[in-house]
Amino acid sequence: MKPRPVRHARRANVSPLYTPRSTDRAAKRAARRQLAAAQAKARTAASGQHDVVPAEEEIPLPLYPASGRPGPASARASRLKLPAHRMTTAVAVGAYPFLAEGGLGAEGTYIGRDVHAEASFCFDPFALYGRVEGFTNPNVLLAGVIGMGKSALAKSVALRSVAFGYRIYVPCDPKGEWTPVATALGGTTIALGPGLPGKLNPLDAAPRPLGVTEADWIGEVRKRRLMLLGSLARTVLGRDLLPMEHTALDVALDTVVAGATATGRTPLLGDIVATLNNSAILDSAGGAVAGRLGDSARDLAHALRRLVHGDLAGMFDAPSTVRFDPSAPVISIDLSRLGGSGDDTALVLAMTCASAWMESALADPHGGRRWVVYDEAWRLMRHAGLLERMQGQWKLSRGLGIANLMVIHRLSDLLTAGDAGSRGRALAEGLLADCSTRIVYRQEADQVAAAAGLLGLTSVESTAIANLNRGRGLWKVAGRSFIVQHLLHPHEARLFDTDARMH
Ligand SMILES: Nc1ncnc2c1ncn2[C@@H]1O[C@H](COP(=O)(O)OP(=O)(O)OP(=O)(O)O)[C@@H](O)[C@H]1O
Ligand SMILES: [Mg+2]
Repeated sequence: MKPRPVRHARRANVSPLYTPRSTDRAAKRAARRQLAAAQAKARTAASGQHDVVPAEEEIPLPLYPASGRPGPASARASRLKLPAHRMTTAVAVGAYPFLAEGGLGAEGTYIGRDVHAEASFCFDPFALYGRVEGFTNPNVLLAGVIGMGKSALAKSVALRSVAFGYRIYVPCDPKGEWTPVATALGGTTIALGPGLPGKLNPLDAAPRPLGVTEADWIGEVRKRRLMLLGSLARTVLGRDLLPMEHTALDVALDTVVAGATATGRTPLLGDIVATLNNSAILDSAGGAVAGRLGDSARDLAHALRRLVHGDLAGMFDAPSTVRFDPSAPVISIDLSRLGGSGDDTALVLAMTCASAWMESALADPHGGRRWVVYDEAWRLMRHAGLLERMQGQWKLSRGLGIANLMVIHRLSDLLTAGDAGSRGRALAEGLLADCSTRIVYRQEADQVAAAAGLLGLTSVESTAIANLNRGRGLWKVAGRSFIVQHLLHPHEARLFDTDARMH
């Protein structure tokens, strides 16, 4: 197509002639002649005969070309006319992507600012249950690289939830950073470690809840003690128990409990180890069981000995020095003196005992709403026994009114629980599946793909998690997505500061 020649619009205006009444005829005639001459000149100019207009008399261009202002903003003049198009807001979301989420409502604790909607962001897993589609459980997974503010967020959620009457349990605090928080909120901290006065007896029986018969409760306490002993043994042995080892544990527990009840005291781990070491007692207590229990319990006895005579001696084989106070707003277990070396087994054993001890409060369905925070949970991922216990808690969360919060560094921490198809891996993936809320803080660039795969992130979300600042996270709440800046009160910032040694 031949381009149209650009016509420069030159406009000249001539005012209508006005002559006062008093003007004489000759003057009026002269004025009319001048007007005719001016009109003729204007017509000539309008018909494009530029050459008759001397260059110095050219009138400057007052308007942009018809296509609008040239350059990147062209076509913004009123010339661009599109036909009206109607659609529903559901379709408009796709056609016009610059829409922000409506938010989760104002119920719950204040977290900070929803950066897309420029609105406050509040969160309470119990308030969302049944209100948000796909929100099937109150558990939360929090992942992010070191120092991005994961613990600060967990502490804020805990601190602010206390005002709503929630209780906070921290069964595993490997850095001891929850102690100031617990103290500030009037809670209790039990510090465990070699040489420290704090002791927990994981075989403590929880008080019988209302409405449960004595016989049922004895059965329940026995089951829990067996599970605990089983997971401790599995953690040290690094394998599953053999059938005869199960029986030996069973028989040893019954023997010890019978003896302790007769003398009116609580059974201790030391009693269990002593019984497992005594094949004569085991064989006679085992009765008609085929094979010699005493021989098959040898590995078991050595495994549990670590808790009584090994590096954990004294911490878990004596009567508890603290009574579990279910009314305390915060209870944390400071394990910072344990597991300083690369071996996390001591930490995991301590955590297993501590969580068993806490279960007494957690198992009470009338205990109100509770948060259980597993800070630094990535250190526990390789221990299937512990994961199994955690999964038990996860599954019970709805029925008991417990929200579990698990803090890890990378999503791939979940994959370190075992090879694909292994029990550990299945347990870890089960924990992820049972978290309706996933909060992702900044991930390293090489971790983004794994995170996107495990959480089903969109490309925009994947780009976002590689570029988040401190305190800012992608919140995936049952498929809905928010970028939230966690805001700290100055008092909180002082209380939660873990950078003090860096300043
Ligand atoms: N939203 C926030 N605004 C301002 N400062 C923050 C915020 N969140 C955390 N911080 C500060 O950042 C520092 C590190 O935070 P925090 O200890 O919570 O990180 P983390 O992700 O738990 O690290 P780690 O993986 O080592 O446990 C703290 O001193 C804390 O006070
Ligand atoms: Mg932390």
